[in-house]
Amino acid sequence: MNPNLPNLLRPFQRNDAGTALHCDGVSLKTLARKYGTPLYVYSARQILERLEMFQRAFVGREHLVCYAVKANSSLAILKLLADRGAGFDIVSGGELERVIVAAPEAVGRVVFSGVGKTAPEIDRALEVDILEFNVESEAELELLAMRARKLKNRARFALRVNPDVFAETHPYISTGLREHKFGIDIRKAAEIYRAAARNKWLEPHGISVHIGSQIRSAEPFGAAVERVSKLAQQLRREGIVLKVLDAGGGLGIDYHSTPATAQGAPARRRGPRYHGGTDGADPAAKVQEYGSVIEKALAGFDCRLLIEPGRFIVAQAGALVTRVLNVKKNGKKTFVITDAAMNDLIRPALYLAYHEIVPVKPRAGKARGVDVVGPVCETGDFFARDRMLKPVEAGDLLALLDAGAYGMAQSSNYNSRFRPAEVLVEGKKHRLIRRREEMRDLLATEVLS
Ligand code: LLP
Repeated sequence: MNPNLPNLLRPFQRNDAGTALHCDGVSLKTLARKYGTPLYVYSARQILERLEMFQRAFVGREHLVCYAVKANSSLAILKLLADRGAGFDIVSGGELERVIVAAPEAVGRVVFSGVGKTAPEIDRALEVDILEFNVESEAELELLAMRARKLKNRARFALRVNPDVFAETHPYISTGLREHKFGIDIRKAAEIYRAAARNKWLEPHGISVHIGSQIRSAEPFGAAVERVSKLAQQLRREGIVLKVLDAGGGLGIDYHSTPATAQGAPARRRGPRYHGGTDGADPAAKVQEYGSVIEKALAGFDCRLLIEPGRFIVAQAGALVTRVLNVKKNGKKTFVITDAAMNDLIRPALYLAYHEIVPVKPRAGKARGVDVVGPVCETGDFFARDRMLKPVEAGDLLALLDAGAYGMAQSSNYNSRFRPAEVLVEGKKHRLIRRREEMRDLLATEVLS
């Protein structure tokens, strides 16, 4: 952790040692009491700060930050971002409808990615006239042309090319190699653009690339952008003018260096971990570096730049607040059982992802190694194993940090559990942005007889 980080970058901290953890101006205890647990809490301030970091990093050129809706698709968050000029990267018809509901005026700032778009999804996106389709295969391009002809609506498209760039991250979320299902082989792209340019229902509009997620180093982004920008320049010389270059998302965060750790016990790390690596970088500096690496790779190429960050904007703005149900000893092991479970935050179970866990109000005493687990009937239902944690008792609150991205968005009703409520903190104010589910929500789609 960088001790020189300005305070304003930290949403979750204590006012004084020994006091309850806050999200900006609001105590998590107050929020848990008012809204119940498990509860997702987000700092509006940090979400907007992160958006601005990207906007500032590219001030020198026409650009659009298309927030990746999949990271957190809550309507209030989409609206918050849209009001500050963000566009959106979507991957389904459902995400498109969310943007239409939250910020209809932003629909012209939407790019549609994803390897398996259906005809109805394409039709809807053509009808509302999104900015661009990021096309991932020749078959999809044919389908797009067919639908555009049918609706008499010319489709602006970019090919998502696969640059064959390796980026160090978890194997489930690395996407930029030829062996992955994503994108079109960069060696084939020019030919596809040439053919498409002859189709009056298709407008070659951009070129796009996305090499993976939770990438901590800026270099691979540079390598990928350099490759696609060279291709775009070659096509321009042939008269195919691609106005937009979409550099994708993927800039990673530091899951291990959240400031609250410094106030609690150091994390003991054991076994395989995929997400992380502490580099202590200041997030603003990280984005600046990312920006300059991309600018350098573009080498003065005149285009409108799009980027699709998701995690970097929302992850550290959010925490999952949970109450300890009980503390159980099995032989040598101690299990802290919480009211949140893998259905609320699946990242540890799915990727062995690391999330910092901080007592909202720490008790005195020595930290001990414990497993923090949920009530779901699976051994995989854990948030941390062998984690050093200050003593906790039934009824205590814990905050799982850096949970704003791919937390609520990947939640489910497994074990017929109600998904959590969500609260947005705006300075000293807070408001419910999603109520906790109830039984009627779970039964709403079912047919008994
Ligand atoms: N653009 C495209 C085409 C993507 O596929 C993704 C993420 C993004 C942008 C945003 O990437 P970000 O900036 O958030 O890294 N569930 C996983 C992450 C999956 C990412 C999938 N694609 C996790 O919890 O780590």
